[in-house]
Amino acid sequence: MSESSARRSFRSAVVPAAGLGTRFLPTTKTVPKELLPVVDTPGIELVAEEAAQAGAERLLIVTSPGKDAVAAHFAPQPALEEMLKERGKDALLAKVRRAPDLLEVATVTQHEPKGLGHAVGCVADVLDDDEEAVAVLLPDDLVLPTGVLTRMAQVRDQHGGTVLCAFDIPGPEISAYGVFDVADTADADVKRVHGMVEKPPADEAPSTYAAAGRYLLDRAIFDALGRITPGAGGELQLTDAVALLIEEGHPVHVVVHRGGRHDLGNPGGYVRAFVDFALQHPDYGDDLRSWLAARLEG
Ligand code: UTP
Repeated sequence: MSESSARRSFRSAVVPAAGLGTRFLPTTKTVPKELLPVVDTPGIELVAEEAAQAGAERLLIVTSPGKDAVAAHFAPQPALEEMLKERGKDALLAKVRRAPDLLEVATVTQHEPKGLGHAVGCVADVLDDDEEAVAVLLPDDLVLPTGVLTRMAQVRDQHGGTVLCAFDIPGPEISAYGVFDVADTADADVKRVHGMVEKPPADEAPSTYAAAGRYLLDRAIFDALGRITPGAGGELQLTDAVALLIEEGHPVHVVVHRGGRHDLGNPGGYVRAFVDFALQHPDYGDDLRSWLAARLEG
């Protein structure tokens, strides 16, 4: 299947960024966690770049009142750009231009944090009539290397329906995740999903395939979101809507991504991501590596 045909599967990529970010308090009193830098670049810019690479033409950022800085990051900054141009700071200018140049960006407001499912439901009215599927990327989940969305689009072209992303986690750590109940297909890295269990004890997990923050959702998800009932804390869970689609016979598959990930949503995972990216950075990597080695010896 050609990449261009896979790319037609979706045009809009939704990035839900309206959560409270309580695990990052006190910083998130005023700074959206999506703007915390991984070395020098906000996590949401890395995720927007992934969406653009996969062929998305439009980023729909779901924000909440008071989180305007997230969308502002994707707006041009003419005064700053002019100043950098005058001073001949071309490399910095390129960094400043990168986010606005990636793809078209629009925002949708979620007025109350009623859960990920509710946040995704907020974009239903802004999709064009011919958008049969939409991608969702959680901005606090870095999936590496990038490219899984392109693969997911190919799987949707082949099987239809909804396609999710999974990691193979054979050890006891599986109990920290949502785990898919799956059946094999002809492709070892594509499984048909029959159900999902949230954070099961490791010995009761239905498989070793854990959910990651990438979704290619058939438009039917919006109808399903309207029919599920809120769970704990009054939140609408996206996985409940996917479960309803499965129950009703709608095809749902996972692509098993053989790679790494970073969870930017909590300080521990964020520090790992920061160090990992810094170690690969041409300016900071070598120095950090020697400092870390000395620090760990001492
Ligand atoms: P998380 O649960 O990881 O984020 O939601 P959170 O709620 O902001 O963080 P904590 O748990 O309080 O620390 C996953 C993604 O879904 C978005 C979040 O912004 C995050 O990117 N989200 C979550 C919404 O957009 N709206 C919601 O109501 C809930």
